[in-house]
Amino acid sequence: MSNISKHLVVATAGLILTLCLVVFAQTESGGAAGGAGAGASESPVPLDGPATIEAGKALFTGKLGCYGCHGQAGGGGIGPSLADDTWIYGGDAATIHETLVNGRPNGMPKFGDAATDEELWQAVAFVQTLSSTP
Ligand code: HEC
Repeated sequence: MSNISKHLVVATAGLILTLCLVVFAQTESGGAAGGAGAGASESPVPLDGPATIEAGKALFTGKLGCYGCHGQAGGGGIGPSLADDTWIYGGDAATIHETLVNGRPNGMPKFGDAATDEELWQAVAFVQTLSSTP
């Protein structure tokens, strides 16, 4: 192998490595950027904190109007019961959050634009207290 082609191999390897790092870095920061917005899958508030749950209850029975479809106590109405342990999409925090942010096809409105992410997580915390299964 000539010196020139050796250099080419090293340069190409270096280039590929750099590209990989750039792609990796973008994937990472892309995830973090999404995480800072309404798409976060981690709650910025303590889901079992009494203040969080109180705030979530106020949103559920007030401003966000969840009660209109799910009932004041979450027992259901136009929307399904949130107080039993049966879930259509899932009762874990990340799934409930996803339901709130993007809505669900059979009549669950999207709240991603109507509330802050912190408020949505507070609502998640409250919804989780309605049912026996977390
Ligand atoms: C306009 C009526 C309506 C409003 C307002 C509403 N929902 Fe819903 N919700 C629904 C319907 C209908 C479904 C079932 C959607 C489906 O099956 O695709 C649903 C589904 C859900 C689910 C998924 C339940 C499961 O079993 O996986 C959750 C959680 C939920 N709503 C919480 C809320 C919260 C919290 C609010 C207030 C921020 C809210 N909803 C406001 C009608 C509503």
